[in-house]
Formats: sequence, structure tokens, C-alpha cells
Amino acid sequence: MRITLTMPLAAAAALLAVPVARGGDPPKKTPELVQKGKASFEVNCASCHGPAGAGDGAAAAALDPKPRNLATAPLKGGAKPAQIFDTLGKGIPGTAMIAFTHLPEVERWALAYHVAGLRDGAKAGKKK
Ligand code: HEC
Repeated sequence: MRITLTMPLAAAAALLAVPVARGGDPPKKTPELVQKGKASFEVNCASCHGPAGAGDGAAAAALDPKPRNLATAPLKGGAKPAQIFDTLGKGIPGTAMIAFTHLPEVERWALAYHVAGLRDGAKAGKKK
């Protein structure tokens, strides 16, 4: 009796936990994941942010506020991968920047790593 009662409960709890889970640990940053982020950026973000995140996407001119330069401008939501991941989960109210929760979590992490990488690249370029 015990087993038949607790097992379905555990199964139900496991099912419930999936949509509620606020992300476990971030996936490890690997070259493959960053590459996935780059590919996703081209599909989901470049129309506004431009292919390199410079804010020069085809749709950018029509936007107010315009997307900032993700590689060089200060980011209001923070520029660490975890903060970018958060921004992707919430969007920015009052702007064209929607929440991207329709993308799988791992893809949002891939994007966060990619965007953070754009910034590292810009910094490295400046030092030269
Ligand atoms: C429809 C146009 C549009 C699309 C598509 C879009 N963005 Fe944005 N994004 C914006 C605008 C507009 C802002 C707000 C700029 C501001 O507040 O200065 C913004 C802001 C951001 C910020 C935060 C900047 C800050 O100050 O913290 C990040 C990070 C970002 N976008 C990443 C992305 C990523 C990654 C994608 C693709 C998954 C994406 N955006 C798709 C228009 C867009």
C-alpha cells in the first residue's frame, strides 16, 4: 500500500518540478555550446542586434529604444553570463526586447556565453 501510494506521488512531483525549476547549474561553457549560441544569435537576435551584436540589425532603425551595442555598451542587466541569461528570461519591459523563455534553457545559456564572448572579444581588440 505504501509503495503504490508514494510512487505516483513521486512521479507527480517530478513532473511538477520540471516547469517550475528555475534552472539548475549552468551548463559548462564549451566551444560547442558557444558555437550553438552564435548560431542561435544569428537566427533569434541578429535582426535587431546585428550579426556581431553592434546594434545594427535590419530592424534596429525602426526601434525606440534601439538595441545597444552588446559588445561595447554597458549592459543595464549586467554582462556576466548568468546576468545575460537572466535578461533573456525576463526581457526588458518597455522595449522590443522580449523574454526568450520559448528557447530551451541550454540555448539561453549558449546565447549568454556567446554575448559575453562578444564583449571579451571587443575588450581584447581595444587593448592592442
Ligand atoms: C525585436 C528586436 C530584438 C530582438 C529580436 C532581440 N533583442 Fe535584445 N534588445 C532589444 C532592445 C530594443 C533592447 C533594449 C536596449 C536598451 O535598453 O538600451 C535589447 C536589450 C538586450 C540586452 C540587454 C542590454 C542591457 O542593457 O542589459 C541583451 C543582453 C540582449 N538584448 C540580448 C539579446 C539576445 C541574446 C537576443 C536573441 C535571443 C535578443 N536580444 C533579441 C531588441 C531585440
